[in-house]
Amino acid sequence: MTATTPIQDLSPSDAKVELARLADLLAQANAAYHTADAPDISDADYDALKRRNAEIEAQFPDLKRADSPSEQVGAAPAEGFSKVAHAVAMLSLANAFDDADIAEFDQRIRKYLGLGVDAPLNYTAEPKIDGLSLSLRYEQGELVQAATRGDGAIGENVTANARTIDDIPQRLSGAPDILEVRGEVYMSHPDFEQLNVRQGEAGQKTFANPRNAAAGSLRQLDASITRARPLRFFAYAWGALSDPLSDTQSGAIAQLKSLGFQTNPLTALCNGTDEMIAHYREIEQRRASLGYDIDGVVYKVDDLALQGRLGFRSTTPRWAIAHKFPAELAWTRLEAIDIQVGRTGALSPVARLTPVTVGGVVVSNATLHNEDYIAGRDNKGEAIRDGKDIRVGDWVQVYRAGDVIPKVADVDMSKRPEDAVPFQMPTHCPQCGSDAVREPGDAVRRCTGGLICPAQAVEKLKHFVGRAAFDIDGLGAKQVEQFHADGWIKEPADIFTLRERYGTGMQQLKNREGWGEKSASNLFDAIDVSRQVALGRVIFALGIRHVGDAAANLLAIHYGTWEVFSTAMRRAEEGNDAWEDLLSIDGVGGVMAKSLATTFNQDAEIASIDRLVAHLDIEDAKRPDADGSPVAGKTVVFTGTLEKMTRAEAKARAEALGAKVSGSVSAKTDLLVAGPGAGSKAKKAADLGIETLDEDGWLDLIGAS
Ligand code: IVH
Repeated sequence: MTATTPIQDLSPSDAKVELARLADLLAQANAAYHTADAPDISDADYDALKRRNAEIEAQFPDLKRADSPSEQVGAAPAEGFSKVAHAVAMLSLANAFDDADIAEFDQRIRKYLGLGVDAPLNYTAEPKIDGLSLSLRYEQGELVQAATRGDGAIGENVTANARTIDDIPQRLSGAPDILEVRGEVYMSHPDFEQLNVRQGEAGQKTFANPRNAAAGSLRQLDASITRARPLRFFAYAWGALSDPLSDTQSGAIAQLKSLGFQTNPLTALCNGTDEMIAHYREIEQRRASLGYDIDGVVYKVDDLALQGRLGFRSTTPRWAIAHKFPAELAWTRLEAIDIQVGRTGALSPVARLTPVTVGGVVVSNATLHNEDYIAGRDNKGEAIRDGKDIRVGDWVQVYRAGDVIPKVADVDMSKRPEDAVPFQMPTHCPQCGSDAVREPGDAVRRCTGGLICPAQAVEKLKHFVGRAAFDIDGLGAKQVEQFHADGWIKEPADIFTLRERYGTGMQQLKNREGWGEKSASNLFDAIDVSRQVALGRVIFALGIRHVGDAAANLLAIHYGTWEVFSTAMRRAEEGNDAWEDLLSIDGVGGVMAKSLATTFNQDAEIASIDRLVAHLDIEDAKRPDADGSPVAGKTVVFTGTLEKMTRAEAKARAEALGAKVSGSVSAKTDLLVAGPGAGSKAKKAADLGIETLDEDGWLDLIGAS
């Protein structure tokens, strides 16, 4: 018997062996896909294995295994970890790519803090470790919990696994009563290579790079597997703290080191951007001989009081930035250009490449952005790649920076085949045949099919069930695609009637290929659980152009409830008060506002949104840190000159305390903060009887004086 023996030729004992083999292979593929961030077989191969398994089971029903892959939906391993809500969110870092970005970072900080260009300002500079971040919680010096970053707010509890890592102390002496130490779990180059050799010898899967190996090793349900993997840990930050570690970043890192953590020896204190960039160059030079992967240098404002004043944007601190190393490059052949249709109808050309290894990862696709990019022009019509266009058959240079989709950097004209022709963007949607039009000023051609275009509908659905959106256990991109193809789900609202339609009756989910009694009932339950959902997730899940998850959360916090949000969006029209209010949100610009207003003005969209919302129980959004804040929920207006902080800082701090900052005084204003030179706003506030404070009064009120 071989893996391709026709099913009718299998003896019962062959079938039993074959079912065991398939169960193994599918379990391995599931683990790679859902947990190890690294699918190891193609979707088509996966489906073929699953089909063969189902066919053998149909032929030999008595041999169906207790752990039959037909009964499993997939993501089981990730479900095995309990969830941990981070006491202090685990944020990511903004990126910089060249020296000019660093100069801008420094200028932005000086401007925000009101510091002159020559005022001394220290930064720490340290390698950006390419691993995965981990938060370690110590109470009275005992390690009590370890959690991955997850979505920043909620991570996975990996305490048992973290306890197996030598670099992580189990007990600290002289530490604050509560101390959350944060840093990066990584694997060294020699350890990674030896692990792959061992995995290969044992017939187990090997890892594409040390980062994947570290992630796959830490996120093991069985901690004894983690123990056998050579993981290391560098500490570089902290979360909740009962007492400050120091008054500087560098002091705090030194303190972590004296408590017994590994801290990176290439951490330096730099005064100003010249010293920062000099240290970057030094680290870049030593990169190849460090023995572990790094992908840039992180700069942080050293003074922790200044860090506190600078605070955070929605997902990144204002006081830090990651200066990334230039991307890695490789040459390969462009075999074809395919067109993908996204959820907003954008036609995106994708390069299909002869697979090539770039910086340790096999690349076979690259983004080509849009037709101008392929033709060798940027969005202002200026030449890129010296004006060289990209044609099927060309030799192209591809690059990848970090985890982003690879891009094409250059074309080798000397190798261009004689019969290569310029690329023509289709003028019709390849999925639904509708006209694909390019509006003036838009670089992208879009399908006009809207809700009738199956590609847009599927992409919208996939977005809807994505991790930052509804994130329903057992309902991933693959399942949504299949349900859509069979007409079971046409729009998000249909997800919430699946139980009603396919839980009982003629056609039932449990009878579908790949599903069973248990997986079907688990899915219905998971869908029910997801009906209760945070406002920000709903706004993001709608998949409105230009509204990412950070913006969706800003909108949620600003409007508070679905009713207030949706009423405001339906009313918003360029120039009216709802429009101005929308634009007053720090982080919402004209383009996003327009996209929101347009969406909430289309009857078909509104009807589809209303059908969805009828199934949901949407939680109101709470402003961050609003508990106990004296200004939570209040509308504050600043006017006149502020002397102790810039206007940007005043606004950001008020918002961080849960206040809403408005530009104009109205009956809705709760508080006016007036500095010297306040004019008409102060008068209007007095006329309306609104409480007015000077800057010191405000600082007293928020406990910052
Ligand atoms: S500081 C609030 N320092 O990079 C800022 N992060 O791209 C917390 N990382 O999620 C992060 N080396 O996993 C910081 N020396 C370093 C780092 C570092 C690696 C990772 C970390 C973070 C990601 C952001």
